[in-house]
Amino acid sequence: MANFCPHRFSFLLLVVFVIFSTLQTLAAEEDRQVYIVYMGNLVERDQSPSSYHFSMLQEVVDRRFLRQSLLRSYTRSFNGFAAYLTAEEQEKLARHEEVVSVFPSTTYHPQTTRSWDFMGLVQNVHRDPTVESDIIIGVIDTGIWPESESFNDKGYGPPPKKWKGACKGGKNFTCNNKLIGARYYNSHAPIDDSARDRMGHGTHTASTAAGNYVKDASFYGIAEGTARGGVPSARIAAYKVCYPLVGCQEADILAAFDDAIADGVDIITISVGGVTPSQFTNDSMAIGAFHASQNGILVVQSAGNKGAEKKTIASVVPWIFTVAASTTDRGIITKVELGNGSILNGKGINSFSLNRTSYPLVYGEDVSRQCGKQAAQNCMCLEKSLVKGKIVLCNTYTGIIEAYNVGALGSVALSDYITDVSFILPIAASSLHEQDFHVVQSYFGSTKFPKMAILTSESGRDRDAPMVGSFSSRGPNTIMPDILKPDITAPGVEILAAYSPVGSVSSFISDKSSAEYTILSGTSMSCPHAAGAAAYVKSVHPDWSPSAIKSAIMTTAWPMDPTKHKDAEFSYGAGHLNPINATNPGLVYETNEQDYIKLLCNIGYSIESIRKLFNNNSIDCPKQVDATTNDFNYPSMSLQVVNRAPLSASFTRTVTNVGPANSTYTARINKPANFNITVEPGTLSFKQLNEKQSFVVTVKGDRITSMISASLVWSDGIHSVYIVYMGVIPEEVHSPYNSNKLQERHV
Ligand SMILES: *[C@@H]1O[C@H](CO)[C@@H](O)[C@H](O)[C@H]1NC(C)=O
Ligand SMILES: *[C@@H]1O[C@H](CO)[C@@H](O)[C@H](O)[C@H]1NC(C)=O
Ligand SMILES: *[C@@H]1O[C@H](CO)[C@@H](O)[C@H](O)[C@H]1NC(C)=O
Ligand SMILES: *[C@@H]1O[C@H](CO)[C@@H](O)[C@H](O)[C@H]1NC(C)=O
Ligand SMILES: *[C@@H]1O[C@H](CO)[C@@H](O)[C@H](O)[C@H]1NC(C)=O
Ligand SMILES: *[C@@H]1O[C@H](CO)[C@@H](O)[C@H](O)[C@H]1NC(C)=O
Ligand SMILES: *[C@@H]1O[C@H](CO)[C@@H](O)[C@H](O)[C@H]1NC(C)=O
Ligand SMILES: *[C@@H]1O[C@H](CO)[C@@H](O)[C@H](O)[C@H]1NC(C)=O
Repeated sequence: MANFCPHRFSFLLLVVFVIFSTLQTLAAEEDRQVYIVYMGNLVERDQSPSSYHFSMLQEVVDRRFLRQSLLRSYTRSFNGFAAYLTAEEQEKLARHEEVVSVFPSTTYHPQTTRSWDFMGLVQNVHRDPTVESDIIIGVIDTGIWPESESFNDKGYGPPPKKWKGACKGGKNFTCNNKLIGARYYNSHAPIDDSARDRMGHGTHTASTAAGNYVKDASFYGIAEGTARGGVPSARIAAYKVCYPLVGCQEADILAAFDDAIADGVDIITISVGGVTPSQFTNDSMAIGAFHASQNGILVVQSAGNKGAEKKTIASVVPWIFTVAASTTDRGIITKVELGNGSILNGKGINSFSLNRTSYPLVYGEDVSRQCGKQAAQNCMCLEKSLVKGKIVLCNTYTGIIEAYNVGALGSVALSDYITDVSFILPIAASSLHEQDFHVVQSYFGSTKFPKMAILTSESGRDRDAPMVGSFSSRGPNTIMPDILKPDITAPGVEILAAYSPVGSVSSFISDKSSAEYTILSGTSMSCPHAAGAAAYVKSVHPDWSPSAIKSAIMTTAWPMDPTKHKDAEFSYGAGHLNPINATNPGLVYETNEQDYIKLLCNIGYSIESIRKLFNNNSIDCPKQVDATTNDFNYPSMSLQVVNRAPLSASFTRTVTNVGPANSTYTARINKPANFNITVEPGTLSFKQLNEKQSFVVTVKGDRITSMISASLVWSDGIHSVYIVYMGVIPEEVHSPYNSNKLQERHV
């Protein structure tokens, strides 16, 4: 990764310089950083919100810094601002009576899994670690490529009347009747003053959610077919918050929510996430989504790509729809053919066909400069002159990039990174599972002139699908342990969608190949599928609330196979989305403002904070605070067991009839033998549309020592309303929730 092209390199330096100089001015005497000062719902007053924010700053910030301090005012959909503050100043502001919370603006990232990300983190001998850490933070972007065929507006009328947004995409950026709005927020990347997508990620996700039909789309002939989004006729508004090097700043993300809500969007899809979960009022994503849901907008977020490490899900609040990523029945493989005729299946996507021709196969160890044996076997010190025209065998996946760097013809490596995904590779290459890799090694040792051909990548049928990707972040939820996360899984492995022609297809900066459609993997890719499904449900039921749409998708999900997933519901939530059935769920679990107030009371928020959040001083907490979220009307049920007493818990839920007026549902429970679940009443009879009925689920059993799952299905013979119940062992969750005073009262 050392050989940046000179042009790109100078661009990167310039960005760093600009940021430095901005920060230096502000940090002249004291250390200042961006804090978000969150103030809940909008308040009516004579003064404009931003001048009010400025006057708040005036009270705490030294006059010399005042002008530069205010970075953003949130004034359209909720109340708050972002400012450069010292630790002392932010503490003063946190005590202001109208402030809900003050927290540092951190960097979020788009959630595509990229093979080369990983490589930056392992031993890469060529790079300067300090420069590298800056570069890793900033390689991902969003925005949109407006000229993409997927956003062609042929046949579209003018934007819907409710649209109050704008096309402010910058110079040389035009919207149309498909892409109806664009804005960008570049507080940390001022030289990139356009909503144009320079990396491809945002173009990919936007076209997955709502791209037009585009016939014969493919990545160099691979995965060929008609590309289209979940709702091809829907409109798109793009809000760019992510930039190379600087990632996605929370202060900018909140600004995008502030605008998107006021602009009048219906669904927000955000394939961006933080590294560690935070409490609601310290998390810009949760805050933005909270106000969106108050305005009838469902926010769909990617679960994250930290699946390799468990309990890493950072999308935790119940008003966000959190999406895991799974495989589809189409998997992409790259076969290799040994000189003796054996053909092996490997992973990898490459546009470079070696045309079935065999080339000499060499082992990394034999074509290296002087270096340690293991490093040589891993292809970490390849000698350029010895690999020309050859296929290099490497003991680790990172070897492929080294083979590319030194100009080898191709590479075959042991798959020791995300082994269930094919990534686009910058040279003809394939990564093999251990067993097949040993076959190659043994073939290599058995002949004097080993040869190999790397065949063109192809789509194959994946009979195991859907399987949750190994990378997809797993629960349990560490902030609200009784809210099951993720909520659902959707396709997120090897997804073909539109791309930015200036983006690098292998996400490798010196790889100059370009494509209008490309194949990416990650929860970033599953998120817009769920958003597309939600938009589809909304198109059939325009009056449904965000919670009803989410419930409909969850309770009609296709059950996943727990025998293939050791984390079961912690990997896939309610199951795999089924957009067609989601339009006709029969019953829905809805949550309204009162439910959220009670939830916040129960998890320990003070009544003062809650009143500020809603800007309503008449709000009160219920007399009895339960300290559990068991009765929150969520379309799944989850319980963290924090002691080793026998299991005993109950959940109350209320369902709303959205199916035939006269209908009768009976409960059916699937559970392991060693505990009992009862549902009271076991039959629900409805006489009217939108009629509500409540029931109580009681769970009893011996103490549990591992995670258990069960399901409850309400069936009227036509609709099956599926809900998941589960228990969690105490050791599995290390949450802030665990260590506070609520613990003793917890079940
Ligand atoms: C929010 O962030 C601030 C500033 O870092 C910190 O003092 C506060 O404890 C955090 N609040 C919660 C609830 O985590
Ligand atoms: C506008 O952007 C497109 C896409 O990058 C480019 O092809 C075109 O030359 C640009 N036009 C101007 C006037 O900059
Ligand atoms: C593959 O075959 C095509 C057509 O015969 C040829 O143009 C191309 O150069 C070949 N590629 C390689 C890597 O040999
Ligand atoms: C090719 O060599 C490998 C490794 O020695 C062996 O497992 C395989 O059976 C051989 N294939 C054929 C067709 O002989
Ligand atoms: C979807 O709905 C149809 C008709 O109501 C039903 O027959 C089918 O079983 C449902 N599919 C799933 C996966 O639940
Ligand atoms: C404020 O809260 C009270 C009590 O929950 C409610 O009755 C009232 O409608 C709320 N007012 C507004 C403006 O939402
Ligand atoms: C529902 O059933 C009641 C009697 O059981 C009947 O009077 C009513 O018309 C039915 N409603 C509908 C919409 O079928
Ligand atoms: C389940 O219920 C049955 C019947 O009431 C009872 O005999 C059994 O002990 C219960 N099992 C547990 C684990 O509570």
